[in-house]
Amino acid sequence: MAIVAKKIGKAIGTPPVRILTDINLKIDDGEFVALTGRSGSGKSTLLYILSSLDSPSEGSVEVAGHDLGKMADPELYKFRNEKMGFVFQFHYLISELTAIENVLLPAVKNRRQIERRAYAESLLEQFGLGDKIHRLPRQLSGGEQQRLAIARALVMQPKYLFADEPTGSLDSANGDIVMNIIRDANKNFGTTVIMVTHDPDFAATANRAINLVDGRIS
Ligand SMILES: Nc1ncnc2c1ncn2[C@@H]1O[C@H](COP(=O)(O)OP(=O)(O)OP(=O)(O)O)[C@@H](O)[C@H]1O
Ligand SMILES: [Mg+2]
Repeated sequence: MAIVAKKIGKAIGTPPVRILTDINLKIDDGEFVALTGRSGSGKSTLLYILSSLDSPSEGSVEVAGHDLGKMADPELYKFRNEKMGFVFQFHYLISELTAIENVLLPAVKNRRQIERRAYAESLLEQFGLGDKIHRLPRQLSGGEQQRLAIARALVMQPKYLFADEPTGSLDSANGDIVMNIIRDANKNFGTTVIMVTHDPDFAATANRAINLVDGRIS
């Protein structure tokens, strides 16, 4: 099982602007891959496409044998909810829900909120948010909101974790805590991790770095 991208291209707008060109890659289950490259090189766009949240203009993406472009929407939503965790540059926390409720959102979608509750609390504890689980997102700092979003992505112990600069707004101590928990998920649960990062130290700890230059793998 793997994530396989074949000849992916992406162009946006009129007239079309080319963002990705001829991307071919295979990421095996259990790998920890860093996506690197300069600002504007196409990292986030590629991550969205690999994670089924955006479609390529050309080419195909297969995840665990499923061609994402050929899956019916309900099947795709189910696959996403069960198997994928996401951490994106904007956190998309629900402002009316408390910290613990936000973290448990993927579990609620899978009707497993009771079973996942203790793990959600332990993640928040490890992220230093143990005493803030009943706060609303606006009552948390930017870095705390980011850790909340990461706990939410991990709560289902997903098969695949897609993360865009997960340590972007964290100080180095909290960045290290987050990276250790992501590494643990990779080691202990076999979660395949695909992570955009600007941090050379974090990129160096991945099994492999995929570097983008102007929308191509270099
Ligand atoms: N919806 C859009 N319409 C037009 N251009 C876009 C759109 N989204 C992204 N782009 C352009 O595509 C290129 C790649 O964007 P992308 O967000 O993938 O870069 P990135 O490598 O993630 O950069 P950063 O490190 O700054 O997050 C950029 O030049 C960006 O301006
Ligand atoms: Mg980006």
